[in-house]
Amino acid sequence: MKVGIIGSGGREHALCVSLKKSSKISKIFCFPGNAGTNSLAENVNLDIKNFEKLKNFIINEKIEIVIVGPEKPLVDGIEDFLRKNKIKVFGPSKVASQLEGSKIFTKKICEKYSIPTAKFGIFESSDKAKRFLDECSHPIVVKADGLASGKGVYICEKTKESKNAVEEIFQGKFGKAENVLIEEFLEGEEMSFFIVSDGKTYKEFGTAQDHKRVLEGDKGKNTGGMGAYSPSRLETDELRKKILNKIIEPTLIALRELNTCYKGFLYAGLIIVKGEPFLIEYNVRMGDPECQTILPRLKNDFGEIINAVVTEELNSLNIDWSDDKSLCLVVCSKGYPDKYEDNVEIKNLNQINLKDNEYIFHAGTKVINSKVFSSGGRVLNFVVKSNDFKKSREKAIDLIKELNWENGFFRKDIGHKVIDK
Ligand code: AMP
Ligand code: GLY
Repeated sequence: MKVGIIGSGGREHALCVSLKKSSKISKIFCFPGNAGTNSLAENVNLDIKNFEKLKNFIINEKIEIVIVGPEKPLVDGIEDFLRKNKIKVFGPSKVASQLEGSKIFTKKICEKYSIPTAKFGIFESSDKAKRFLDECSHPIVVKADGLASGKGVYICEKTKESKNAVEEIFQGKFGKAENVLIEEFLEGEEMSFFIVSDGKTYKEFGTAQDHKRVLEGDKGKNTGGMGAYSPSRLETDELRKKILNKIIEPTLIALRELNTCYKGFLYAGLIIVKGEPFLIEYNVRMGDPECQTILPRLKNDFGEIINAVVTEELNSLNIDWSDDKSLCLVVCSKGYPDKYEDNVEIKNLNQINLKDNEYIFHAGTKVINSKVFSSGGRVLNFVVKSNDFKKSREKAIDLIKELNWENGFFRKDIGHKVIDK
């Protein structure tokens, strides 16, 4: 079977590595992929916003299943478009993708189905929002409704900051805003919780914890993710059951009542407060870098899982995981998440000898004349799994030292809550 993967990050390279091992898959195409996928798949450089061109390529090459990595094409309706053209897609419909595409859509579902989430208000005008903020205790959280590439969320200590956030959102900093969401600040620890669903049934797909801030000690600006570890240290049977019963299952019922179903990965971003899970956000895809830590722990043939989802036969599969502790360090271009230099050669990549359980997943990389160059803020993901998070982290650090890339930096403290207790 031929499959296509949409996206170009570390998540997509990890998906590609797992699919390459599958006995079901004969060829992989990546749209557009990166230097890592280039050696496993055919990288196809076409504009993925142009669904029509993409469809023609898929039909010409007889690609049977398309796996969508990032959220944007899903929110833009790629599943509906390709499905209408009789192409199977691993990823949710446009309506279901509103779970990530509109925070207000998700909040309304939480309200209707009593899903635990931070208390909230939705305001249609800047004046009303500001009057409300005058009455609120802080910290408080102000959010733009739509996709904002990880931005668009303000944690505000003072009324002046929260009013400023409201102003910026209504001024269109994250696209035209008709509403603003104001939310209670929850004090607790974050956890990323994943399921995979075929529209009829679902299976758990691991937990992880990521580190979004750029500096050690979880300080500094937010990034796409500087590292992650899996499983989350918060994972217990009791908590998993609460998450499934109180959050995941009511959400899947809500989607069914909207006459859609959920196909693909669903990622619940949670804050755990005194053992109780609260939904902070949904993402309609795998997390990046969570995916890079979770997939190496999977024992199944990943191609079989993908196929079972698109053929609605997930019920017949058991998903098995290794007990290993998997940890990912992200090597970024110096300056990220602000200004950084692109097109810097990464010289020593081929000299690193990876053993079993050690992985380098590419993110912002490209090949020019058989050499690998950086092409983004997050460049490489070093993942190691072992029987101990500390050992995994030490090994990943050793590998990064071997690379010795002069334009890179990384956080050495990923997993500090579980390692440096
Ligand atoms: P989101 O894009 O909704 O995941 O928000 C980005 C980050 O802001 C989350 O990963 C949390 O660290 C933080 N955050 C969002 N909402 C809340 C909240 N209600 N209480 C505390 N922290 C929050
Ligand atoms: N790691 C956070 C995300 O993928 O959104």
